[in-house]
Amino acid sequence: MANILILGANGQIAQLSENIFLDSTGDNMKLYLRRADRLRDKAAQYEDRIELIDGDTTDVDKLVDSMKDVDMVYANLAGGNIKDQAESVVEAMHKAGKTRLVWISTLGIYDEVPGKFGQWNNSTLGSYITNYAAAAKVLEDSDLDYTIIRPAWLTNKDEVDYEVTQKGEAFKGTEVSRKSIAQVVVDIAQDPSQFSKASIGVNKPNTDGDKPSWY
Ligand SMILES: NC(=O)c1ccc[n+]([C@@H]2O[C@H](COP(=O)([O-])OP(=O)(O)OC[C@H]3O[C@@H](n4cnc5c(N)ncnc54)[C@H](OP(=O)(O)O)[C@@H]3O)[C@@H](O)[C@H]2O)c1
Repeated sequence: MANILILGANGQIAQLSENIFLDSTGDNMKLYLRRADRLRDKAAQYEDRIELIDGDTTDVDKLVDSMKDVDMVYANLAGGNIKDQAESVVEAMHKAGKTRLVWISTLGIYDEVPGKFGQWNNSTLGSYITNYAAAAKVLEDSDLDYTIIRPAWLTNKDEVDYEVTQKGEAFKGTEVSRKSIAQVVVDIAQDPSQFSKASIGVNKPNTDGDKPSWY
């Protein structure tokens, strides 16, 4: 049984992963988020398994405190300051003596998306991609045992259906469900040697195209 610190715990993928952790593992969770009262009901329902922490990920001291007795940190973050958040998380993990980190990033940070879809992705996402690339580099330049997850365009389909590409390979497909990404995170927590020091693209098979199907 592991203890997982989830940063950005009210995020959409984070909430799906929390439900999978509760339903299919014995793991405990520390849910770290701004305005933590938003998850008060969930924490009360599972008070033996969930600890709620109100915090911003730019607060290194609070992060260090929250990492006590934690086996894995799962960061489900977003925002224009994503590189600053990555630096805070890395600094806090060093100070707390923690090594295992799962970080949700995005497709396109290595210009690995081929063809017309890659061009459309770059021009649609713009500086979002360069910000996320800078954040990923902070992790890759650290000595942490990280997994960077690069999802395709996200859907809310109630399905777990994905394939994985490694860094250095062309990205496949255009879409993937948030639930699939959540399942990948939970699976890594069950076997932390999976995708260790790796940056993985995750997509739904057979969804190649010039754009996601809903555009
Ligand atoms: N949409 C797509 O197609 C797509 C594709 C690939 C990758 N992604 C990326 O995948 C990631 C996860 O997706 P998602 O749908 O779960 O995203 P999401 O629902 O937007 O969750 C991101 C979370 O980050 C939290 N956060 C941001 N700054 C924070 C800070 N300083 N301190 C604490 N928490 C902070 C937000 O908290 P608050 O609730 O407090 O704002 C939010 O809950 C995102 O980075 C997203 O950009 C998206």
